[in-house]
Amino acid sequence: MAEIIWGLATSHVPSIGAAMDNGRTSEPYWSPLFDGYAPAREWMAKNTPDVAIVVYNDHANAIDLDVVPTFAIGTADLYPVADEGWGPRPVPPVRGAPALSEHLVEELIDAGFDITICRELEVDHGLTVPMSVYCPDPGAAWPCPVIPVIVNVIQHPQPTAARCYALGKALGQAVRSFPEELQVAVFGTGGMSHQLAGARAGLINEPFDRMFLRAIEVDPVSLTELTREDYVREAGSEGIELIMWLVMRGALDEQIIRVHEAYHVPASNTAAALALFDNRAHS
Ligand code: DHB
Ligand code: FE
Repeated sequence: MAEIIWGLATSHVPSIGAAMDNGRTSEPYWSPLFDGYAPAREWMAKNTPDVAIVVYNDHANAIDLDVVPTFAIGTADLYPVADEGWGPRPVPPVRGAPALSEHLVEELIDAGFDITICRELEVDHGLTVPMSVYCPDPGAAWPCPVIPVIVNVIQHPQPTAARCYALGKALGQAVRSFPEELQVAVFGTGGMSHQLAGARAGLINEPFDRMFLRAIEVDPVSLTELTREDYVREAGSEGIELIMWLVMRGALDEQIIRVHEAYHVPASNTAAALALFDNRAHS
């Protein structure tokens, strides 16, 4: 049977990818952020999964704002890197894991989650930046195939935090019911507090972020009690991306081991964080 071996929560700020792509990670602006990643990267490099499930949001690059699925899963063999206006990032295309994707879609639909199926999908910074946070130097190919799981966090009404956590629980069960012996990692991406436009542009709420970082590890249910308005008020209009961390957390066991955590302000306009959890507390 397949098992989930670890979970990674990470911000997906595009300029983090650009800093890597342009060789600027050791500049004074960026080095504190990348120094904070180092222990997690070292650990993940020793714990390469067979498949990574990346829970992320498209930013109107692959999915037009005219048709916005609440939850969607990619079932393709290959996901090209999207051109977000400056040409595609110079990173490898993302190989898929279609057999596991199709199993997840079927299991989740049977569990009451009406998943949109993406047979073709270009992946934007929401997915490629977390992949670069995981693996800074992939060479010609990423270390493992990937299943993109898309959550609408950009168009009101976003799914509730409670629904995202429930999706994560069902996703975890669906992975565990896959009959192949696969080791799977789950990424929850986006956040932390940030707002890119409007009167509150530049908003950072460190006390809220610190509370969220503690609770995602030890008391995720408390985070499901917050409404979408709570997330937007406390974390900003883009900070609501944090509900995607709850999908990852729901897929993990109740007991997890925190391997590493880092919090840094600012990365572009965003409070950036990383939290890495080993899901093998039981073994
Ligand atoms: C930024 C953050 C995001 O989450 C995003 O999708 C785009 C930009 C930023 O802080 O620049
Ligand atoms: Fe974003």
